[in-house]
This record gives sequence, C-alpha cells and structure tokens, in this order.
Amino acid sequence: MKIFVKPLVLIGMMGSGKSHVGKLLSQKYHVPLYDIDALIEERQKKKIAEIFEKFGEAYFRELEFVEIERVLSAGNEPCVLSLGGGAVTTPKVLDLVKNKAVSVWLDVDIDVLFERTQRNKDRPLLLCENPKERLENLLRNRIHLYSQADIRADSSESDPHVVLDAIEKALYERGFMA
Ligand code: S3P
Repeated sequence: MKIFVKPLVLIGMMGSGKSHVGKLLSQKYHVPLYDIDALIEERQKKKIAEIFEKFGEAYFRELEFVEIERVLSAGNEPCVLSLGGGAVTTPKVLDLVKNKAVSVWLDVDIDVLFERTQRNKDRPLLLCENPKERLENLLRNRIHLYSQADIRADSSESDPHVVLDAIEKALYERGFMA
C-alpha cells in the first residue's frame, strides 16, 4: 500500500474534525497519531482550559510550538498530526508545517462548526457571551493561514470516511503518496 511521503498535518478550525479524521488516517495507514492538544494535556497534567486560565494564551501557544516541533523534528517518518485550531497563527509553527509536512485544511461551513462546537464546552476561546460571533471572527482572521495548506478538504460532511476519501484522492493527485 502506498503511504504519504511526509508527516501529514491536519489544520482547521475547532470542530472541523481533525481528531476524528486523524484517527481514521492513522488506523488505515498504521502510523502514529499525534494529537497535539492531547500531548500538551498529558505533559502538563492539565486541561487546555486550565492552561489558558492560569497562564494565558501566549503561554499555551509556546507549549503548542514545542510539542509540534518535537514531533516534526524527529524525522520524516509517516505519521499524522492533529493541530489545535489556532496553532498556525504562530508564525514559527506555520513555517515548520510548510517545511516538514504535507498540510491538509479541513474546511467546514461556519454554521456546521458552530453546531459541532456547542456540543461540549471545553474550548476556552468560545467561553464568551457570543460564541458564534467569536467563531466567525477567528475564522475570518485565520482563513488566510488555513488556505496556505497543500490540500483543502471539505469537512462539512458528517461522515469522516467521506472526508478521508477526499483527502486520499487529493494526496494521490498531488503526488504526496509513494
Ligand atoms: C484552539 C483550538 C483548540 C485548542 C485550544 C485553542 C483555537 O483545539 O487548541 O482550545 O485557538 O482554535 P481544537 O481545534 O482541537 O478544538
């Protein structure tokens, strides 16, 4: 079976399905999955919300960078990384992703994102009076970063297998499988 030639990095907004699709990709290709939020929580022994609350967003962004760098500097072995939605707002993270990985933006309609992110309340950036407006603003400010990904996959579809198929098709078409 062919496999992606570099680590595969999933980017996109909260609720875009990165963790879920990441899991499917890693299972199908028998490669490790690095869920960066989960790795941070494990290493810090704290929930993301607690890190934001106690130390602030800038501190969290640095932890995020360190964790992503740790994985991407380990070599070119095929693996899947699922990044938190705001990771690429850190310029050195975006540089790393561009230099070391194939990036896939899971693009989702804003109404679907809102609906999905309302199902649980563990996202500190959405704990505000108007989470829909906050989500729209975040997307507006980030779309120019997400759109720099090598591949854009529509992830509005609720079945992650459909998203997986679209990603694989794009990877083959773009010559990222060998
Ligand atoms: C964030 C997204 C979250 C998490 C943190 C900040 C963001 O990850 O990293 O709450 O800035 O969009 P998910 O995209 O996995 O929800």
